[in-house]
Amino acid sequence: MGELLEATGALDATYHMGTYARKQVMFVRGEGMRLYDDDGREYLDFIAGIGAVNLGHAHPAVTEAVAAQAAKLVHVSNLFHVEHRAHLAEVIATLAGGGRKVFFANSGTEAVEGAIKLARRWGKLNKGPECYRIITAERSFHGRTLGALTATAQPSKQEAFAPLLPGFGHVPLNDMAALEDAIDDTVCAVMLEVVQGEGGVYPCTPEYLTSVRRLCDERGVLLVLDEVQTGFFRTGTAFAHQSFGIRPDIMALAKAMANGLPIGAVVATDEVAAAFKPGDHGSTFGGGPVVCAAALATVGALHSERLGDNAIAMGEYLRDGLAGLAEKTGEVAVVRGIGLMAAAELSRPIAAAVAAGALARGLVLNNIGDSIIRFLPPLVCKEAEIDTLLETLEAVVGEV
Ligand SMILES: Cc1ncc(COP(=O)(O)O)c(C=O)c1O
Repeated sequence: MGELLEATGALDATYHMGTYARKQVMFVRGEGMRLYDDDGREYLDFIAGIGAVNLGHAHPAVTEAVAAQAAKLVHVSNLFHVEHRAHLAEVIATLAGGGRKVFFANSGTEAVEGAIKLARRWGKLNKGPECYRIITAERSFHGRTLGALTATAQPSKQEAFAPLLPGFGHVPLNDMAALEDAIDDTVCAVMLEVVQGEGGVYPCTPEYLTSVRRLCDERGVLLVLDEVQTGFFRTGTAFAHQSFGIRPDIMALAKAMANGLPIGAVVATDEVAAAFKPGDHGSTFGGGPVVCAAALATVGALHSERLGDNAIAMGEYLRDGLAGLAEKTGEVAVVRGIGLMAAAELSRPIAAAVAAGALARGLVLNNIGDSIIRFLPPLVCKEAEIDTLLETLEAVVGEV
């Protein structure tokens, strides 16, 4: 272990709250798919800061945009107009298909909180004071603040913080009958991830998502999509729902919007957005000049480098490779995912050991639970890097 890592680990152990069991590695530099630790050792990054660095590390367009704006003006608050914020709202509303308005937050959980508040406000205004309940899917993940945590239907994450918020119900994903039963006059919205990420990479089926959209229209209920992890071309299209041929009433965004800088957004139809009036919601830092400059540069580069197309092609290559590994080794039981959001479910509960073995060989992977390995590489990922991943994985599962 390098001296810098040792000293930093000691400070963390003394002064940081123990909410994360951190790995024994410290990255000090990155470039594209690659990370470098304090000893100068190179790693291939298949996590991308948990799906936040879609352009790859240290993208020059983002670096330049941040440096230029930071040198001019960092913060004025939401009491004033900010040029980059206005342009970014236009870009996001247009990417979402138009007829949309945007509120900027600082993270995914904040975007979800904003979506919950907007859905409740819309329900109360349009359907009466008792219309505020929100239905979400079992195994979902929507964030860690109390509203988002109540929406997150994972008892293991919720129980220690009870009592949670009233006004939420949970149903199994991809089960229309359960959702039909769950919706009554008190429900203002259904909130889903298009592909459940933290839960283990479980996509909505196309039939389910289109039926949910139809049911919401029939019952006068909003469809909220949490695209915090799936957004910004991770699954190929700008937002994952766009390949399913439906549109949400509200969408939560964050993670990759500014290629690793903290930003989130609530995007809603003009009609739903009108439920928020001055004073209903706010943020000191949301949509600041620096993060908005970074986000504009990020979205520009995602387009100009055609990274959505690359996500589709490389996603297919990765899933085929993992399926090949399943045949060869018998260690991979199921492969799931869309675009460059993929998971391999291992035949044995060895995911943590596999991730640790991979890290020792210079490959950064993410394990979920006992047996799932999740892949969220930067969208600049190429075949040769996936080949290295597959070779390393084969060696590591053989060893474990
Ligand atoms: C779908 C989804 N929603 C919300 C969140 C919370 O985002 P953040 O960690 O930025 O608060 C996450 C984070 O992983 C997520 O995947």
